[in-house]
Amino acid sequence: MALAAMTPLLRLLPLLLLLLHPSLREYLTVSRRPNGELHPIVLLAGQGCSDLEARLTEAYRPSIPRCGAMKGKGWFSLWGNASDLLAHDYVQCFEEQMRLVYDPAANDYRNLPGVETRVPKFGSARGFRDKNPSHPKRCNDHVREALEGLGYRDGDTLFGAPYDWRYAPPIPSQSSRAYSHYFRQFKELVEAASKKHHKKVIIFGHSYGGMVALEFVRNMPPAWRNRYIKHLILAAPTLSTGFVYQVYGLRSAGSLQAIYVPTTDDSSVMMMWSSFEIAIASLPSPSVWGHEPIVITEQRNYSAYDMEDLLAAFGLADSVEPFRRRMVPKMLCSKAPMVPITLINGVDNMTPRQLVFWDGDYNASPEIVYGDGDGGINLISMTAFEADMCQQPRQKQQFKSVKIPKVGHTELVTDARAVKEVVEEILEANRL
Ligand SMILES: *[C@@H]1O[C@H](CO)[C@@H](O)[C@H](O)[C@H]1NC(C)=O
Ligand SMILES: *[C@@H]1O[C@H](CO)[C@@H](O)[C@H](O)[C@H]1NC(C)=O
Repeated sequence: MALAAMTPLLRLLPLLLLLLHPSLREYLTVSRRPNGELHPIVLLAGQGCSDLEARLTEAYRPSIPRCGAMKGKGWFSLWGNASDLLAHDYVQCFEEQMRLVYDPAANDYRNLPGVETRVPKFGSARGFRDKNPSHPKRCNDHVREALEGLGYRDGDTLFGAPYDWRYAPPIPSQSSRAYSHYFRQFKELVEAASKKHHKKVIIFGHSYGGMVALEFVRNMPPAWRNRYIKHLILAAPTLSTGFVYQVYGLRSAGSLQAIYVPTTDDSSVMMMWSSFEIAIASLPSPSVWGHEPIVITEQRNYSAYDMEDLLAAFGLADSVEPFRRRMVPKMLCSKAPMVPITLINGVDNMTPRQLVFWDGDYNASPEIVYGDGDGGINLISMTAFEADMCQQPRQKQQFKSVKIPKVGHTELVTDARAVKEVVEEILEANRL
């Protein structure tokens, strides 16, 4: 709209504003601010939202010859368009080339030998896209569009930090080849955005992106955080306090909504998924879940203390060592990042709390006992994280929790009412 056309309205605005509800008043006032006054923001979307590209070298030994077709041909899109996988009859090769292996000597995960991967579009808020054509846009699209409506511009004040979601972000004492590279890029992005606008930067992460954002900030030195981070906004982060849906994901390909693979062969999808480091991240933590049975069978119950035995019972014996060496230390790390945090969660949704495989057949669908949460993340996990953060006085003073009733895990960034609340919190972080 031309400025001239707006002038009469602008003159009336102070008067109109007096008549408005205070929150709406603030919303309008802020939205009229020139772009220059907005703090730069970096967005991170959930699992499966970032694209992945691959390059196959001579060291790659395909299980079937046609999977080696791209050998020596440079970078190609591996995870970018699921329909393409089907069109090129590449699903089986995709599942193989996506797989990770745990390297016990390094206590870290790697690609298969001869498979190199990278994440394209780093820096752009448009670097995330849902691969499932039938989904609502669950990769922060609505939040990004609302921010653009408020004057945020991709590449100027608005950024994205896509990441390789197969790997779990490390806590400060751990090494991760994938994340050490990523954290360096992320750090440079934040510094550049901050210097350009002479302002600290807001980081917003949804779901797994919230977890990555949290670990990024925790991995930076305190002086750096003070200098560059304005606010951390975590929307339904998948925390290391753990949630039962993640246990369900180890048995049910259908539960992996974020990883849309156009195939009916669940077992091959599960094989790929269970090789990922994220498959064993965020399993229920004993300090939160105690001895409550999480998986119930006639013979034996498994609580959060029995996750190693449960992995073995699920046929995932290879995951036991990385779980013990990489995930258990993470469960014990509740160090606050000491930057202002807003935690936003949906509640009042049926959320799996116990899985009953009564006759011990883990290939069957379990009977699910529900509790409260956002449909994926349990309320008990959210409140335990809040309690951990607020035990640390300097964090407590800068910690806000917002709970939105009847909004589910994904709806938090797709439902119009929820997106409005999320954007309100981003605006409030700008004002503080
Ligand atoms: C994905 O691939 C399909 C089939 O190859 C193509 O028709 C479609 O336009 C692609 N979608 C995107 C978003 O690139
Ligand atoms: C498993 O847990 C259920 C529910 O708490 C309980 O009723 C049952 O007795 C337990 N079974 C075993 C074998 O401990």
